[in-house]
Amino acid sequence: MNKSGGLNLFPKLTEIPENAGLFEPIRGRLLVGGELIQRGFETRPVTSPILLRSEKDTLEDVLLGETPQATSDHVMQALAAATQAWKSGTGEWPSARMERRLEAIALFTQRMQAHRETIVRLLMWEIGKTRGDAESEFDRTIVYINDTLEAAKGLDRDSSRLQFAQGYVALVRRMPLGVTLCMGPFNYPLNETFTTLIPALVMGNTTLVKVPRYGQLLWDCLLPEFQSCFPAGVVNVINGSGREIIGAAMRSGDIDVLAFIGSSQVANTLKSQHPRPNRLRSILGLDAKNPAIILPDAPVDLSIDECIKGALSFNGQRCTALKLLCVHDSIAEHWTQKLAERVAAMKIGMPWEPGVKITPLPDTAKPGELRKMVEDAVADGAILHNSELALRGQATLIRPAVVSQVKWSHSLAQVEQFGPVIPVIRFNHVDEVVEQLVASQYGMQVSLFGRDARQLGPLVDALSNQVARININASCQRGPDVFPFTGRKNSAEGTLSVSDALRAFSLRTMVATSSTAIEGRDAFRGILEHDTSNFLTNHVIL
Ligand code: G3H
Repeated sequence: MNKSGGLNLFPKLTEIPENAGLFEPIRGRLLVGGELIQRGFETRPVTSPILLRSEKDTLEDVLLGETPQATSDHVMQALAAATQAWKSGTGEWPSARMERRLEAIALFTQRMQAHRETIVRLLMWEIGKTRGDAESEFDRTIVYINDTLEAAKGLDRDSSRLQFAQGYVALVRRMPLGVTLCMGPFNYPLNETFTTLIPALVMGNTTLVKVPRYGQLLWDCLLPEFQSCFPAGVVNVINGSGREIIGAAMRSGDIDVLAFIGSSQVANTLKSQHPRPNRLRSILGLDAKNPAIILPDAPVDLSIDECIKGALSFNGQRCTALKLLCVHDSIAEHWTQKLAERVAAMKIGMPWEPGVKITPLPDTAKPGELRKMVEDAVADGAILHNSELALRGQATLIRPAVVSQVKWSHSLAQVEQFGPVIPVIRFNHVDEVVEQLVASQYGMQVSLFGRDARQLGPLVDALSNQVARININASCQRGPDVFPFTGRKNSAEGTLSVSDALRAFSLRTMVATSSTAIEGRDAFRGILEHDTSNFLTNHVIL
C-alpha cells in the first residue's frame, strides 16, 4: 500500500530499536469454562497503527497477529460457564471466604508481572501508546490490584465485627451480585478492564470479559494465568464484534452486572436488551466533554501546560481529556497564540521515541472525522492555527490542531472528539459558560484556571451540581485511583475507586437476631463459636 506521500514519519524495519522489537505474530485465543480455545472460530488480522516504510518508500501495514471473532454461540458458552461457576450463588468462588479469593488474585498478580514487557510492547504496537504511558498503564494496574486487595481485607475485617442496635445483634457483609460482564475501552485496554474485573472477582462475582476493539492481543498472555489461578468459569475471556455477539447474552437475562466503559449509546442499547432491568446492576463510565475555564487572572504558563497535558495526553484519547477550552476574552488572543505555538512544537513520532507526545491513532477513521469537524467549524468562522501543519501527517499519524473562535453550535464544542484537536471558545462573562454546562449532556469533570478566590469559590459552587470533579489549576484526570471516579448525566452510572468499586460489585447482606432473646442469641453464638458458617464468622484476615 502506498501511503507515504514523500514524508518520513514512520520507520523502516531496521530503524526499530531493540526495546520495541516486534514479536512473532500472536494467534489470539478464548478462555471459556477454564479451557483455552484455539480453534473453531473465524479470526481477524490485527494490524498496527504503526506503519513501516519499505525500501521503496511505500508504507506497509504491520501484521501483529490474529484475533478470534467469537460468535454468539461462543459467548453463550462463556456465559453458561460463568453461570455454572456462580451456581445461583452457591458456587465455590462466590461462597468462598474472602481470604481464599484474595490469595487467588494475589497469585494471579504475581504471575501477571512476568508479562510486563510483552504487554507494554503490545500497548505500543496495538494502540500506539508511548512507552512511558504503556509502562504506567501496566504499573498503575498492579498498584490498583494491590490497593484493592488491601481495601478488601479492611472491608472484611470491619465486616467481621458485630453490630448492636435497638435490641438486635447483626453481622453485615457485602456479598456478590452474580455474573458480571466486563467491557473496557480501547484507550486503556488493560487498566480500565481490570478496574472493574478485579473488584468484581474480589467480591465473589463470576465474570465474562469482552476485550476492547483495539488492544486485544495483549490479553492472550494472561489467559493461561487466569486459567491456572481461578476455578473454571470464574473468568471467561471472549473476543469478537461486540455489536453482533453481546446482544444474545444480554437478552438471556443471565447477566446480573454490566460493567462497561464506552459510549452512552452502546450502554443504553445493552441495558435495554435485558429482559429484567430491575435485576441488572450497571456500573458505567461513559461519554465526556470535560471543559477547562481559563479566567482572566489564570497563571498563563501553568494553565497552558496543564491544558496541553489534559487535552493531548495519549493523543486526546482519554475519557477524562480536556475536550474544550473556554478562555476569557481579555486574555484569549495572547493565550491561544501561545498555546498554538506550544502545540505546533510537540514531537510526533513512534511510541518508543524519547520525548514523543503524539503517536499513531488506532482508529483509522479518526483523522478523517477530525478533519471534517474542523472544516465545518472553519467554514463558519473558526480559525485553525498553524494550518500548514495542523492535522497533517501520514495515514494514522497526524499533527495536533488548535482551533479558536469556535462557537457553541459547532460540533467541535458539542461532540466528544477523542483525538488530537483542541477547540477554544471565548467568553465574556463566565455565566455564559456555566449556562452551556448546565445544558450539556455531559457531566464528568471540569478544570478551573484562575487565582481570585472571590471568583473561583462561587464558580466551584455553580459547577458542583453539574460535574463530579472540579480541578483547580490542574487538568482533569481519573487518578489517584483511591478518589471517586464518576459523573453526572450521560457521563457515568455508579462510582469507581479502589473502595467504591468493592461496594459497586456487591450487596450488603446481614444475619440478625434479637440480642435479648435467649434462643436467637444462643443460636447466633453457637454458629460463631463452632465456626460453621463462612458468612456468620469472626474469622479475621490477618
Ligand atoms: O479514559 C479514561 C480514563 O479513565 C482516564 O484515566 O485520567 O488517569 O488518564 P486518566
